[in-house]
Amino acid sequence: MTIAIGNMLLDHIYHQPCGLLAEIPDDSIDAIVLSPPYNLSYKPQPAKKHNINGYDTFDDHLPQDQYEADQIELLDACCRVLKPGGSVFYNHKERQAKGVAISPFRWVLKSKCELVQTIIWNRGSTHNIDPVRLYPINEFIFWLRKPGCRPRFNRACAKLTNIWEIGFEETRSIGHPAPFPVLIPLRCLKMAGVQAGDVVLDPYMGSGSTGVAAAEMGAHWIGYEISADYIRLARNRIAEAKQMRDMWKVPPAKPKMTGQDISVAGTAS
Ligand SMILES: C[S@@+](CC[C@H](N)C(=O)[O-])C[C@H]1O[C@@H](n2cnc3c(N)ncnc32)[C@H](O)[C@@H]1O
Repeated sequence: MTIAIGNMLLDHIYHQPCGLLAEIPDDSIDAIVLSPPYNLSYKPQPAKKHNINGYDTFDDHLPQDQYEADQIELLDACCRVLKPGGSVFYNHKERQAKGVAISPFRWVLKSKCELVQTIIWNRGSTHNIDPVRLYPINEFIFWLRKPGCRPRFNRACAKLTNIWEIGFEETRSIGHPAPFPVLIPLRCLKMAGVQAGDVVLDPYMGSGSTGVAAAEMGAHWIGYEISADYIRLARNRIAEAKQMRDMWKVPPAKPKMTGQDISVAGTAS
């Protein structure tokens, strides 16, 4: 059984900034699902269930130019570590600054990743209500690929539209300010044809939703996260998901046929 790629442990959350994924070898990851902090200038708040607006360890505030340059570099790094045929799913949203929209298309299209398709996630609600414009309820999930490499696609998913109606995850019940519903990474991984034993990466692990989805599918996962409290939360959620999977594992339907069974089957009737 594989327990590491390069020097990286599998099924492990690294308590450090993801940086440029320098520890991860080239062409080693089957799928990446990530939702970075959105640069919303929230004040840091202790990790508690009632905190909606703010991470516990940092203020999510960079000059916008630097934020965009950092995100482009990270997406380029995702391209590097992705196997040919793998997929990156990058979740982000449009935000407002001084009455003007800042769209993630601005930096996504500047990265080395190629955009396969844009998924609109209708999450049904947002914190950003302002009576001078329409009430925004969507986020984006950018499906990206390594340049020139056609991504695997599970054709059973071709009947899904590119508008996903998936209600947002309750911050209070999870204990993280910005968790996405597990159904988001689960759909992404299924779409990308991830199989049991494949390796999935989330550079911003947060409450561990990507790890939960990977564990439910029997895939390996690797995460980075800077908050010790969120790491504890994520580990517990992933362990629970793994336990559930183990509990519901179905034994093989039929015992293996022996040579004798085959000859009996062959001579019947
Ligand atoms: C939008 S949240 C991700 C939420 C996650 N998708 C989930 O479902 O819970 C972003 C997370 O990235 C973490 N973070 C911020 N900067 C980071 C960095 N440089 N490296 C790794 N994690 C970081 C934050 O602490 C936060 O938990």
